[in-house]
Amino acid sequence: MHSRRQLNVCLLLLVLAALVLTNLTRFSEAQTTESYKVTLAIRVDQPRWVINRNIYGQFAEHLGRLIYDGIWVGEESPIPNTRGIRNDVVMALKELHVPVLRWPGGCFADEYHWRDGIGPRDKRPRRPNSSWGGVDTNAFGTHEFLDLCAMLGADPYINGNVGSGSPQEMMEWIEYMTSAADSDLANLRRRNGRDKPWNIPYFAVGNETWGCGGNMRPEYYADVYRHFATFIKNHSGNRIQRLAVGGYDENYNWTEVLMSQAAKQMDGLSLHYYTLPTGNWNEKGSATEFDEKGWHATLLRTLRMDEFIQKHGAIMDKYDPEKRVGLMVDEWGTWYDKEPGRDMGALYQQNTMRDAIVAAVNLNIFHKHADRVRMANIAQMINVLQAMLLTDKEKLVLTPTYHVFRMYRVHQGATMIPIDLSAPEYKLGDATVPSVSASASRDGEGRLHVSLVNLDPNRPAEISATLAGAGIKTVTGEVLTSAAMNAMNTFDQPNTVKPVPFKEYKLESSRLLVSIPPKSVVVLELR
Ligand code: AHR
Repeated sequence: MHSRRQLNVCLLLLVLAALVLTNLTRFSEAQTTESYKVTLAIRVDQPRWVINRNIYGQFAEHLGRLIYDGIWVGEESPIPNTRGIRNDVVMALKELHVPVLRWPGGCFADEYHWRDGIGPRDKRPRRPNSSWGGVDTNAFGTHEFLDLCAMLGADPYINGNVGSGSPQEMMEWIEYMTSAADSDLANLRRRNGRDKPWNIPYFAVGNETWGCGGNMRPEYYADVYRHFATFIKNHSGNRIQRLAVGGYDENYNWTEVLMSQAAKQMDGLSLHYYTLPTGNWNEKGSATEFDEKGWHATLLRTLRMDEFIQKHGAIMDKYDPEKRVGLMVDEWGTWYDKEPGRDMGALYQQNTMRDAIVAAVNLNIFHKHADRVRMANIAQMINVLQAMLLTDKEKLVLTPTYHVFRMYRVHQGATMIPIDLSAPEYKLGDATVPSVSASASRDGEGRLHVSLVNLDPNRPAEISATLAGAGIKTVTGEVLTSAAMNAMNTFDQPNTVKPVPFKEYKLESSRLLVSIPPKSVVVLELR
């Protein structure tokens, strides 16, 4: 039996416990919005490798509404165009300084026969697109693609057909495009309206030959690669870099076999890695409907790019310590479930602030490994997967990912400056990612560019940066952020996520203090 006195004591203890708990909750709430304290040493006195511009490459496959609608509307279209190519799209993409454009696939490359896409358009065959559905009119072929590259000032990267093609077909396509001789194929090109040969610097021997490109074993493909690559000839001063199909994710054995069997015959080896919020191809997760768990899991998975590059790179180092062969990450980006009501094969997805963070984090990773990574092509340029642009008939929208590519273009061709970053972890449940990702480079005019990404959607970060070896007088910058994690640009509201000038910094002799908002990408220019 409890006495009244004991009961009172119990009640008092209960009240006290409740008070302590309430205060603890308040304290932890205050903690969740408190700034991260980050230190960043920018080693301006230790410049490293050049960040190859091609890391900012794009990819355009005959898939969904990328080529048809996204680029090609035809000369008769009411949508303003130049020789059939949308003017608004070209204008927007020119802002990105697209260095290189991969075409015609992807899986589609291994079913594409180049002769279908030359000559008078009304005579070109209509072929089923067996990879992605629908019928391809072949209105957009070699001449149209190379016209687009010229409009953008981008180098063409052509992906050859191994899966259903032959070395002869590949060899003849290259002759058609690049020969200045008085040969039948070069003359055919002239009759089709192009006198001067084109410069084709990159040519790949198949795509994903471990999957849609032929389901090959690496030992078999290594021989196929050597066979096909032999017939990639240089004509009339054109110099082609020959690229082999590489592995994906943790498929390290593929890299091992290709490097041991065929490294001498190649200039580059590809790597594909897609970011799925769940990591499950059957239920990838929504592009726009997600909570903080979906945000965090996506960033955790995208950060694996660093590990994959390091481990595939270490295998390449064994066979190629001079790093002559480039690692070409020629497919990367987010891949979500299809939107309700959309066509399964079209791979159309919206793009939010989460995609902007994914893009910035990956570009920082590529800078860090730019001694081996010589090219990267985000998948894909328009209306497909992690796109730069979305179109709907005559309308066009710039995605948050577009804005990151525009802000980051200052790093193209600049010299990578190493950094020492000490950032607390952004933890959710048992999983952690760094709260801040960063990279720095110095361009030809001596300007220093620092990119900072806050991965946490709730907490700001205060960054104290030292700049050994740099006398900085002026700072300017831009920031991309949003109120909601899933903020996006739509055809009705195209400017919800867009960069604005950034002012939250203080220059104190050799220290730069920067305060960046939650879920943000900041690019600073220091002079
Ligand atoms: O980018 C979409 C597809 O993903 C490509 O066609 C293929 O190479 C990859 O599996």
